[in-house]
Amino acid sequence: MSLPQHLAIIMDGNGRWAQQRQLPRIAGHQQGVKVVRTVVQECARRGIAYLTLYAFSSENWQRPMTEVDALMGLLDYYLDVELPLLQQQGIRLQVIGDLDRLPSSLAQRVRQQVASTATNPGMVLTLALSYGARDELVRAVRRLLTDARRKDISAEALDETLLASYLDTAAMPDPDLLIRTSGEMRISNFLLWQLAYTELYFCSCYWPDFDVAALDRALADFSRRSRRFGQAGDFEPTSRLGES
Ligand code: FPP
Repeated sequence: MSLPQHLAIIMDGNGRWAQQRQLPRIAGHQQGVKVVRTVVQECARRGIAYLTLYAFSSENWQRPMTEVDALMGLLDYYLDVELPLLQQQGIRLQVIGDLDRLPSSLAQRVRQQVASTATNPGMVLTLALSYGARDELVRAVRRLLTDARRKDISAEALDETLLASYLDTAAMPDPDLLIRTSGEMRISNFLLWQLAYTELYFCSCYWPDFDVAALDRALADFSRRSRRFGQAGDFEPTSRLGES
């Protein structure tokens, strides 16, 4: 079975999962953290090289303060409790997003954890924190313009490789597969540049219900996809013009 080298996940539906059970939304996020643990371990065990999780979007700052605080607390807890497990499994932690918006003590802790796993040889686990793809592009172009002025980079020198090298994901391959849970079928400002040729997989279960069987179904579905990256496939001539 062909595995994605890079799997990205939009973990959605925590709130609805909690609501269904007449629990506070934070209970859904707490259950969601348990699923994160399982999925991280299972992906590493299966030999997936990169796993990227959308943990907190730049738009999530607009949620009620109590929920934002609870999510920051959960992140703090996750970093605390999971680090030994990540170390044990040789997993390398990375972060994308605007870390400067996080509470400074948490941002510092995140940077420390990233540094402490930097030489681990195993799966790269990337948490998207205070992340929005449009914001990432704006930050990238800002840095590029500063460098262009300083290093005299001409407009003609700008190509996809140069722009991609300014993104938060510069050191990573693009995702091969994106999973979104909860039945919503949209990208929600996640990795807009990087998802250009990614296979999309939507499943209806809420993130707290996502389990090993659901992960396996998504991986099996991916292994049956035929990826063409916009080029012609070598199959029957019935495919419609412009289809890719
Ligand atoms: C979407 O559910 C989920 C989030 C906004 C946060 C995801 C966070 C976690 C799974 C826990 C923290 C993660 C780590 C890595 C420590 P939602 O609240 O939008 O659900 P809803 O659409 O049903 O309201």
